[in-house]
Parts: sequence; C-alpha cells; structure tokens
Amino acid sequence: MSLPCCEWDDLLACSVPGEPVARTAHPAAPYDFGVAYPDPDSLPLDELVECLREELAVAGRSLAHYPHPLGYPPLREWLAARLAETRGFTVDADGILLGSGSSEPNFLVAQALVDPGDVVLVEDFTYAGTLGILRRFGADIRGVESDEEGMLPDSLEYRLREAEDEGKRVKAVYTVPTFQNPLGWVASAARRAAVSEITARGGVPVWEDDCYVDLAFDGQEVPAAIRSFDDSGRTIYVASFSKNIGPGMRLGYVAAAAPLMERMAAVKGTGGVSQFTAMAVHRFAQTGLDAHIDRVRGLLRAKRDAILAALDAHLGGRARWTDPSGGLFVFVQMLDGSDAVDAAERAAAGGVLFAPGPRTAADGVSGRDRMRLCFGWNRPDEMDAGIAALAAALQPAAAAVLGR
Ligand SMILES: Cc1ncc(COP(=O)(O)O)c(C=O)c1O
Repeated sequence: MSLPCCEWDDLLACSVPGEPVARTAHPAAPYDFGVAYPDPDSLPLDELVECLREELAVAGRSLAHYPHPLGYPPLREWLAARLAETRGFTVDADGILLGSGSSEPNFLVAQALVDPGDVVLVEDFTYAGTLGILRRFGADIRGVESDEEGMLPDSLEYRLREAEDEGKRVKAVYTVPTFQNPLGWVASAARRAAVSEITARGGVPVWEDDCYVDLAFDGQEVPAAIRSFDDSGRTIYVASFSKNIGPGMRLGYVAAAAPLMERMAAVKGTGGVSQFTAMAVHRFAQTGLDAHIDRVRGLLRAKRDAILAALDAHLGGRARWTDPSGGLFVFVQMLDGSDAVDAAERAAAGGVLFAPGPRTAADGVSGRDRMRLCFGWNRPDEMDAGIAALAAALQPAAAAVLGR
C-alpha cells in the first residue's frame, strides 16, 4: 500500500517560479532556427577526449576533492592571459569565477545585484535568457535603442536620466556588444568607450556579455572589450565556451570586481564547476581551440551565406534582414504585415522553429513583425527548404496585401 503524498502546493517556496522548463529533444524540428546551437558536426570530439586523457594524467588526482570554489585554477589562469591578449584588459585568475555556461554567471550577477523594482537597462532587443533571469528577480527592464554601431549614447543617457528623475536605482546596463543577440551588430570602439564613459558618471555597472566574441567570420578585428575602457572595476565581463565549443560543455565565466565576486561566490556555493569538464577545456584551450575556432568560422560563413540567399529567394520584397559578419543570428523584419507570433505555430507544424520578436524584446511585446533566425544548426544545403517552409507559414495581413 502506498502512503499519501504531501501537499506540494502548500510547501513550495513562493520565491521560485512555477513555469515548466522546456525539455526539447534535438533536433526539435527539421529546420531549427530557434536556438543558438553550434553545428553538431563541428564538435572536436576526438580532440576533447585526448585532451581529457592528457590532463587527467597530470591532474586527475584532484578529482578526489571538491574543486576550488572559483573553478579549476589552471583554466582561470589561462583565461586571465587570454583576456589580456585578446580583450584588452587585465584580471587576476582569482577575479574570474567559472560557472555552468554563462547562464549561471548571468544568474549570479542578477542575484547579487537586483532587488525587485531595480532598473536594468538592456538593448531594446536582446538575449531572451537574460531577460528571463531579470524578470525572475523583479527587475524593471528598460530598452535602449541601438544602430549598426551599438547602443545609442543619447538613448542610454535618456534612460539613465529618466530613472534618476523617477528616483529609481539603475543597477546595471546589460549589453551584448559583439555580434549582438539578436541584432548581429558589433559595437564600435567609440560606442564602447561612450557606454563606459556615460555609465561612469553615475557609477552604474556595465554588464558585458561577450559570448559570441570568437565567431567573427568575415575576417574582421573585434574591438577591445568595454571593460578595457574602465579602470574603476564597474564592468562585469561574462563569456562562455558554449559558442566556441558547445553548450553541452556547460562552462562559462564571469570576471568582476572583488566585492561582487565575493557575493557571487557566496551565492553560488555549490562546490565549484565540474573539474572534469574544466580539465578537458583547459588542455584543449592550449592545443586545439584556436584552430577549431577557425574551422567553425568557415562553417558559419557558409551557413550565413546560405540563409541570406534563401531569404532573398523566398522572402525578397516581403521583408528586410540583417547581414551579420559573425555570431549566429539573422534578424528579419516583415514588411507585408505578417505576424511572427501567429506564424510561429504554423511554422512549427511545418517543421520550422524560430524566435518571434517579442521573445527578444526588452518590453516582452514589441516586434511582432520580427523574427530571430539562428543559422548555427542546419547545414547550408538545408537552408533553402527551411526558409521556403518559413515563408509559407508567414501570412501577410489582409490589409497589407490590399495595400491599405
Ligand atoms: C548573449 C547570450 N548570453 C548567454 C547565453 C547563455 O549561453 P551559455 O549558458 O550556454 O553560455 C546565450 C545563449 O544563447 C546568449 O546568446
């Protein structure tokens, strides 16, 4: 005889959201433009196995104890040197905390900074995951406009002044300055300097999410990090091995000033991140990562070209779209009155997934005429059929068709 279950509804903490977490099988649809996955065929599986074997041979005995609370020290040392070399700022290894992807570091930043009602400024279209985290902590999320060169200084100043006039605290400016998700632009050095300078006046932290930094596929140099323009320690830098290796690694990091690091390490408090993964990544970072990134860039360039050609063939005249030189996204704006939210269900039935604009909007509702398409997963030779199916699901509003 089984015992009666307890009343879970009366027991669960009110502070924890109850929405179910999506559990998706992969591929979730034949044409998955919905999530920022890398190419499964690009994964350096043999190299990772070899790297893990080699690192275990020298450091494997450390698996007998819990990892350092900030994560595997040799990987943090490698990251500190890499950031100085490629992102233009110096940080001690102990100024870096490893986490589960960059999602956990982003969660820790929000948890350490945001009380309900605090204002956080973000690009007016941005990464849905961070928007979800911010909503979870009750942030008052406000959008800042941007153009091809990044956040618009006037719009940023306006938002900061607006909050000040309302007597509200701005806890951070969250920005994805390199191959922005979903807009695709790379903030220029001048705009990075402007964001740093404008926020410095009010002592507002900049929360720089640089997870696409390695995915420049048109051969261009990416400007130094916003953090390199800041000597004060206000800038929080987050990045990940999800986009240059794969999200299944669940390894990312945050570099921040000591008081924030201490708070984040305290709230994390889960015995560090997997030393096993960190060991493989540490060895791979020293041996094969750069060559791997070069290969991935070539693949992504071919995929970008294929998806843009398919958009031209199937949505030419009905829409306009971005032409990214890196990252994983094309942002499409429909010009014929099609509603991307309505189309999403029809598209899914036709085997195509994508993110309708409002999912990426700071206010959660703008952009029903827009869609974010990720081109990381499908092969170049699949893009045409996928975009043809998407175009069929997008139905122009009657008024637009009649030219009213
Ligand atoms: C801007 C941005 N930040 C963070 C993440 C989280 O990725 P992960 O936790 O796998 O590092 C993503 C994933 O798509 C992203 O686009």
